[in-house]
Amino acid sequence: MGELVVENLSKTYHRREGWNTTRSLTVFEDISLKIAEGEFVSIIGTSGCGKSTLLNLAAGLDTGKGGTILVDGVQVDGPGLDRGVVFQEFALFPWLTVIKNVAFGLRTKGVPRSQRHDVAKKYVDLVGLTGFEDYHIHRLSGGMRQRVGLARALAIEPAVLLMDEPFGALDAQTRETMQAALNEIWERTKKTILFVTHDIREAVYLSDRVVVLSGRPATVTLELTIDLDRPRNRHDEKFQDYERELEVAIGH
Ligand SMILES: Nc1ncnc2c1ncn2[C@@H]1O[C@H](COP(=O)(O)OP(=O)(O)O)[C@@H](O)[C@H]1O
Ligand SMILES: [Mg+2]
Repeated sequence: MGELVVENLSKTYHRREGWNTTRSLTVFEDISLKIAEGEFVSIIGTSGCGKSTLLNLAAGLDTGKGGTILVDGVQVDGPGLDRGVVFQEFALFPWLTVIKNVAFGLRTKGVPRSQRHDVAKKYVDLVGLTGFEDYHIHRLSGGMRQRVGLARALAIEPAVLLMDEPFGALDAQTRETMQAALNEIWERTKKTILFVTHDIREAVYLSDRVVVLSGRPATVTLELTIDLDRPRNRHDEKFQDYERELEVAIGH
């Protein structure tokens, strides 16, 4: 469980301008990707190249695409419990506690009330928030809020986890802490993860494979397998070689 296949995906936005003109913007064209069960794949590219558009299509939050997206062979045509989503904005319920935020999706999933607390607790522990179960969201730091978001997405036990620049709003130090935490969680759960970022170092630190989107309309211009042991050392020479190769590919 957890194979994500994107076939010949394209996306064009149509916007009305004035009473009889429509402007069309083709964001990307003919993107094909195959993410194996348990694989961590990042998509990188400059701002505006269509990373979020691609992720939203996979999440089923955006429609009107060309091509196909399949999760374990089933076509994506809307949001579903087979996909967990984590965004940069926390999208948590501020009036609920940590444990209630994490338990939120379990009801929709049909987990009996008597089991929801235990399932949620397991994921609160997994993301390192033991002891904070009854805190309200407003009392938490940015990094902790993002841990809650991650726990909530994982709690529904989706086949695939989709993450759109989840650490983009955090300060540099917290971001590195969260990258280490995510690496550890991924090693433990072996979830299939599609991760979007514009941060090359973050992509090299976390991914089995990095996919570069560039051009306008964007296409996949490079797929790079990162062959380094985990947890990775950002000062390692090979790590920095990968960074340079990706910088060139992205067009910096
Ligand atoms: N709802 C929309 N309507 C029209 N254009 C959009 C819409 N959403 C995104 N775009 C455009 O599509 C392009 C890709 O956006 P996005 O996927 O957000 O890029 P990224 O996440 O890589 O920064 C941008 O040029 C953006 O302006
Ligand atoms: Mg984006």
